[in-house]
Amino acid sequence: MIPADHPFFVLHADLPREGPGETADVAWAAEVAGTPDTARILDAACGPGGDLGALLRAAPKGHVTAIDLHAPFIDAARARWGADGRVTLTVGDMTTPEGPFDLIWCAGAVYFLGIEAALAAWRPRLAPGGAIAFSEPCLFTDAPSAEAIAFWQGYEGLTDAAGIAARVTAAGYETLATRALGDIAWESYFRPQEARIARLRPGADAGLAAVLDEAEAEIAGWRACRAETGYLLSVVRPA
Ligand SMILES: C[S@@+](CC[C@H](N)C(=O)[O-])C[C@H]1O[C@@H](n2cnc3c(N)ncnc32)[C@H](O)[C@@H]1O
Repeated sequence: MIPADHPFFVLHADLPREGPGETADVAWAAEVAGTPDTARILDAACGPGGDLGALLRAAPKGHVTAIDLHAPFIDAARARWGADGRVTLTVGDMTTPEGPFDLIWCAGAVYFLGIEAALAAWRPRLAPGGAIAFSEPCLFTDAPSAEAIAFWQGYEGLTDAAGIAARVTAAGYETLATRALGDIAWESYFRPQEARIARLRPGADAGLAAVLDEAEAEIAGWRACRAETGYLLSVVRPA
């Protein structure tokens, strides 16, 4: 994890979301999972809560438990959702809330644990018939460029859709459906960052400038390689 006082969090403080995502993906996943109106949902590694509105729309009579390790992200989510009685916000590890949950939603964070470990940890937290939707780095081509692989900064678990499905099966789950996150999801993450970079660049010290350079390189890297790699969203259920 990145230390809380790192200049990374100067760039990332109070951004609307901390990874790619769009509301249509949440609605799609909830429909595939058969999520009921009254669903108990876990937003695992919720960041600043960018998916909370869409999750609540998917289960208008339900409840969302949102958890993240980084307290300032939970503070940001609390500023937006703390008054909504359908939301519980907690600082902590995403595998710890007991549930049971009808849907566990995890956008851009299963790779911290690995697919098998995350699915194993969540299995006892699922209600009967419950499902997990998670996004995972994915190669969309058999012959990825060096740039597409480098985009994921050495992530050892990097694989393709078949590799992700194999890990889901190995964890004792079945894959109900998958789809790749689209450009809107990625730009929803990158455009607010670009605006923030433009604001922070004048007067940035060396530490912050390095963070801004890295973010710009990440954004350019994805735009150059987006046909080759991105996030695959999988909806899975215990087999
Ligand atoms: C790429 S961000 C995605 C955040 C959010 N889902 C979104 O799409 O905006 C990854 C998040 O995972 C959180 N995280 C990493 N490991 C975690 C863990 N074991 N438990 C809870 N949160 C974790 C980080 O603090 C960070 O907010």
